[in-house]
Amino acid sequence: MRAIVVTEHGGPDVLNPTDAEDPRPGPGEVVVELAATGVNFKDVYERKGNYPMGLPGVPGSEGAGRIIEVGEGVTDLRVGDVVASADFTGSYAERAVVAAAKAVPVPDGVAPDLAAAVLLQGLTAHYLTHSTYEVKPDDTVLVHAAAGGMGLLLTQMIKLRGGRVIGTVSSDEKEKLARDAGADEVLRYDDFAEEVRRLTDGGVPVVYDGVGKTTFEGSLSSLRPRGLLALYGAASGPVPPMDPQRLNKGGSLYLTRPSLVHYVATREELMWRAEDLFGWIASGELSVHVGGRYPLAEARRAHEDLEARRTTGKLLLIP
Ligand SMILES: NC(=O)c1ccc[n+]([C@@H]2O[C@H](COP(=O)([O-])OP(=O)(O)OC[C@H]3O[C@@H](n4cnc5c(N)ncnc54)[C@H](OP(=O)(O)O)[C@@H]3O)[C@@H](O)[C@H]2O)c1
Repeated sequence: MRAIVVTEHGGPDVLNPTDAEDPRPGPGEVVVELAATGVNFKDVYERKGNYPMGLPGVPGSEGAGRIIEVGEGVTDLRVGDVVASADFTGSYAERAVVAAAKAVPVPDGVAPDLAAAVLLQGLTAHYLTHSTYEVKPDDTVLVHAAAGGMGLLLTQMIKLRGGRVIGTVSSDEKEKLARDAGADEVLRYDDFAEEVRRLTDGGVPVVYDGVGKTTFEGSLSSLRPRGLLALYGAASGPVPPMDPQRLNKGGSLYLTRPSLVHYVATREELMWRAEDLFGWIASGELSVHVGGRYPLAEARRAHEDLEARRTTGKLLLIP
C-alpha cells in the first residue's frame, strides 16, 4: 500500500509518500481501508519529535473507512462495517489497524469522510464542554482560534448548550466563519483580555485555549475569580513553566491541561460522546467544516498550511 513514512523528525519535508507493508490485525484488532484521514496538530508535534513517535513510522491516528479484515477474538465488528477512530496506528496510509474497542460504528446518515473529519476534534470539544467544564445556559466563554478545527466545533457545542461565545481569530475571513458557527463576539488577539473583561463585566468562567504560548497570560487575565483555564493545546508553542502564585493573584483560578485519552477512558464514555456527535450531524445541529482535502501524497502541504495558520476548519487526507 501507499503510506507516508517518516524516517527522521523534522519539518513538513519529512512527510514522504512511499510503498509500505500492508497492515495485518493482531488479536482484538481490525484493518480498515481508509476513506479519509484526519489531520491533527498532534501529528505535527509527533513529526517534530515533541510528542513520542517511533521511527521509521507512519503518522496519524484519525480516520474512517470500511473494515477489510478482523483479528482473532473480535466479535462485535465484521468485514464491511464502516468505522471511525481517533486511535489508529498510522492513519496517513491507505489502510491502517485499530483496536476494535477503539473503533466506533459510523451510522448510515453520516458519510465516512465526515466521520473522519469530526471524530478526534469532536470528541475533544465534547469532553471540554460537557466534562472539563459543563457549559451552562447563559455562560459566556472564551474560545481561541474560533475558526479552526477545534474552534468551530467548540463554538457550536457551546451554543447547543445555551452558552454565549467570545472567539478570537486572526483574519476577517476567519471572523466570518466563527460568526456563521454561532460566535456572539469575535476579537483579534491584541489586548483580547481587556476586551473580554469589558464585554463580560469582569471575566469569563472558562477559557478554551488550544493556542498556548502566545495566549496563555491573556487567557488567565480573561477569567473571573475561580474561573478555569482549559489549556488543551499549544498551536503557537508550549507554555513556559509558571509560578502557581499567578493563579492566586488572578482570583483563586484553576488550570487544567486535559487530553482526550483520559476522557474516553471506557467504551461507554467513548460511545456516549461519539453517539452525541453523530446524532447532531445526522439531525443537522452540528456542521463539520472541511477547510481542505489533500491527496495522501500531499500530506506535506497539509502540514505546511496548518502550521502557517492558512487553514480553517478540518483538514483531510484522501488516500
Ligand atoms: N488536548 C486534546 O485532547 C486535544 C485534542 C485535539 C486537538 N487539540 C489541540 O487543539 C489545538 C487546535 O487544533 P486543530 O487541529 O483544531 O488546529 P486549528 O485550530 O485548526 O489550527 C490552529 C489555529 O491556531 C491558531 N494559531 C494561533 N497562533 C498560532 C501559531 N503560532 N501557529 C499556528 N496556529 C496558530 C490559528 O488560528 P488563527 O489564525 O485564527 O489564530 C490556527 O489556524 C491544537 O493545539 C491541538 O493540539 C488538543
